[in-house]
Amino acid sequence: MTIRVVVNYAPPEVSTLISAERLAERVRELAAEITRDYAGRSLVLLCVLKGSFIFASDLARAVGLPVRIEFLGVRSYGQGTSSSGVVQITHDLRNPIEGEDVLLVEDIVDTGLTVAHLLELLRTRLPRSVKVCSLLHKPSRSCTPVPIDYLGFSIEDRFVVGYGLDRAEAYRNLPYIGVFESGSEPGGAT
Ligand code: IMP
Ligand code: MG
Repeated sequence: MTIRVVVNYAPPEVSTLISAERLAERVRELAAEITRDYAGRSLVLLCVLKGSFIFASDLARAVGLPVRIEFLGVRSYGQGTSSSGVVQITHDLRNPIEGEDVLLVEDIVDTGLTVAHLLELLRTRLPRSVKVCSLLHKPSRSCTPVPIDYLGFSIEDRFVVGYGLDRAEAYRNLPYIGVFESGSEPGGAT
């Protein structure tokens, strides 16, 4: 089945890396895998703000299971474009996850420091299980090994925007994943 997504916003300085159609297709595949793996159970989808808000909302609607959505706000970049390794929690969970099957939904695993820190934090809340679902992974940037149970795409070490990911808070609403044409200076990200 072909999925068509209307692209209303396509700034010329950003070139497409992963099209909206390809994203939609991959989200459906990931959701089918998750639905199979958790059959008969319910799931807490833990959306890591801000970057995974679009991915998590598409994934939530594609999963064929009862889900509860929780949000965790983190900041790991400050104003630069490389992870400081210091993960600041800007919005904590509103409800307990004790005894729950939790799926941490991330936009991208870059150095891995954010996910490693979050997994440590979540384990102190005594969930039944925690798995990681990330739309993107930059394997060449990995500083700490983190398990990615469900992965959308592996990408090269390029600064990407769109589909929730930002450059200094801009471009989150691009319906595709894009990269800057050379000459563009990346800014902060969360
Ligand atoms: P990590 O701690 O280095 O794995 O990076 C974690 C966070 O940095 C991700 O969740 C993103 O929010 C952000 N990030 C990393 N790479 C990019 C990128 O290429 N574009 C936008 N944000 C990024
Ligand atoms: Mg993120």
